[in-house]
Parts: sequence; C-alpha cells; structure tokens
Amino acid sequence: MFEILEKQALNQTVTRICVHAPLVARKAEPGQFVILRAKENSERIPLTIAEYDREQGNITLIFQVMGAGTLEIDSLGVGEHLQDLVGPLGKATETEGRKKVCVVGGGVGCAIALPIAKKLHEQGAVVHSVIGFRNQALVILEDAFRAISDELRVMTDDGSHGEKGLVTTALETLINAGNQYDEVITIGPLIMMKFVCLVTKKYGIKTVVSMNPIMIDGTGMCGGCRLTVGGEIKFACVDGPDFDGHQVDFDEALRRGEMYREFEQHERETACKLFDREVR
Ligand SMILES: Cc1cc2nc3c(=O)[nH]c(=O)nc-3n(C[C@H](O)[C@H](O)[C@H](O)COP(=O)(O)OP(=O)(O)OC[C@H]3O[C@@H](n4cnc5c(N)ncnc54)[C@H](O)[C@@H]3O)c2cc1C
Ligand code: FES
Repeated sequence: MFEILEKQALNQTVTRICVHAPLVARKAEPGQFVILRAKENSERIPLTIAEYDREQGNITLIFQVMGAGTLEIDSLGVGEHLQDLVGPLGKATETEGRKKVCVVGGGVGCAIALPIAKKLHEQGAVVHSVIGFRNQALVILEDAFRAISDELRVMTDDGSHGEKGLVTTALETLINAGNQYDEVITIGPLIMMKFVCLVTKKYGIKTVVSMNPIMIDGTGMCGGCRLTVGGEIKFACVDGPDFDGHQVDFDEALRRGEMYREFEQHERETACKLFDREVR
C-alpha cells in the first residue's frame, strides 16, 4: 500500500499527488513511469513520475481525470493508500550532452515534460519551452517551466492566456528566429506530437516523442502498447516511452488509441455515477 501524502488540484481536471514510494523514488529518472491501481479491483493506470525526492522517498504524479481509472485515483484523499504501484518502468529520457533543446508540451503532457526540461537545465543546456493549452482555465505548471527555461512561450487555442495559437506556431517562430536546437522533445496528445514532428522534419531537427498507448502489464508481455517505429514493431513500455518522432507511425497509433473508445465510455459513465462527478 502506498500512502498519499499531499493532494492538490492544478486545474478543474488535473490533480497532483505526492505518494510515499521509497524504492521507486530511489531509482526514478525523468521520462520513467509507474503503473498503479487505486483499489484492488481497479484498472491498472500508467502515470509518469513528475518529480521524485530520493531522501524523503516520495514521488509526485500529475494526472488528468479522464475516465474510470483516474476518477478512482482522484477519489482518494491525503492519508489514504493506493493499492499497488510498480516502477520505475520504461527507459529514462536521454539528456546527456544536449546543448540547446526546445521542449514542447501540450496539456497534461506538460507534467511529463517538466522533469525532463528540469534535468536539461540542471545539466547546463539552454532550454526553450513551449507549453500549450485549450484555454486559460487549463494552464498548469507555468511558473515551474518559467523557473527552468531560458525562454518560455505559453500558448492557448483561444488566446485567453499567453499567445493565441498552437504550439507548432510558437515552435516554428523560434526556429525561424535562428535558434538552432540539438533536439526538440515533445509530449502531449498524439495529434500534437504528430504535427510537431512534421514541423521539425521540414527543418531537419531531431525530435523525441513520448508515446502513451494503452498499457496493461508494462513489462513487454501483453502487446497492448505495440507501435510501429521505423517499420519495426516496438513496445512502448520497454522500448520507450521515448522514440524518434520522425520514425513513429502516428496514424496507426491514433487508430489503436480509438479501439477501446466504446468500452471506456461505458466505464466512465459508470464511474461518474459512482463518484458523482462529471468528466469532460
Ligand atoms: C507511459 C504513460 C505515461 C502516462 N503518464 C501520464 C501522466 O503523467 N498523466 C496523465 O494524466 N496521463 C498519463 N498517461 C495517460 C493515462 O494513463 C490515461 O489517461 C489513463 O490510463 C486513463 O484511464 P481512465 O480509466 O481514467 O480513462 P479511460 O476512459 O479508460 O481512457 C481515457 C483515455 O486514456 C487512455 N488510456 C486508457 N487506459 C489506458 C491505459 N491502461 N494505458 C494508457 N492509456 C490509457 C486512452 O487514450 C483513452 O482513450 C500516461 C500513459 C502512458 C502509457
Ligand atoms: S504494456 Fe504490455 S507489452 Fe507494453
């Protein structure tokens, strides 16, 4: 059992929890994730380790309430316990030797991008960050990004905060202003990462994406997280979640992401009734 030590709502659908998990905290690196269950019969939910404190033995998870599984996690309060949690899983993001990087995050993907941007900053790289949200009410982690970025662009679709437009617009502006990036790292909705990759391909900039397909066991055994990268079959849980974005078959990943839509909708409706909540 893993005790929830802190809980904070970052916006209307995104929650941050700090969990006591000393063995995970000891080994965690940016880019890695855990798989957890809120209760004994809950779904297994993969979440990225947003922060870790090796001394205190704590990890921070930031999650968007999407459906049944995340609603159940969100139903737990401080002092309550997650049933089980395994990790760190997946490969850590490679940051060594990078001199200038643009980190592009979208929505809750910003929570996954933040520890990577932070590590790059600590290693002395110049970090430019572009973070994007649908509107002002959904903006998260702006101050945290500002603290570790040499340049920060905040974008909203409707212009209610920061600049109006998509993250790809800001990224292209930065590139056209003469910034030469060793790498772009992008984390967010599949469709956003696909379009970021189309921009960077045009300019020949290496681009790393963090893929978030359906995961079940997280050990490479079930095949749930299968992707095609460079024409080869890969499993995001053990070969990733980071991949060369220019090699990922995004259209296949988008199709596979739709496969359980009906089932998820049914589970979401049941959970919303159970917890008397709405999920957008
Ligand atoms: C490696 C990895 C790291 C992730 N890190 C984060 C994070 O830090 N914060 C965050 O908010 N989200 C993260 N996600 C996504 C998160 O796991 C899903 O939002 C969550 O599982 C949704 O479950 P649900 O039952 O609440 O919603 P559902 O209604 O069941 O599903 C909503 C959507 O979530 C996705 N999803 C559902 N089940 C899974 C599953 N078992 N594995 C992966 N995706 C699923 C699907 O795209 C689905 O359409 C991550 C996913 C992966 C694979
Ligand atoms: S989650 Fe089962 S193979 Fe990756």
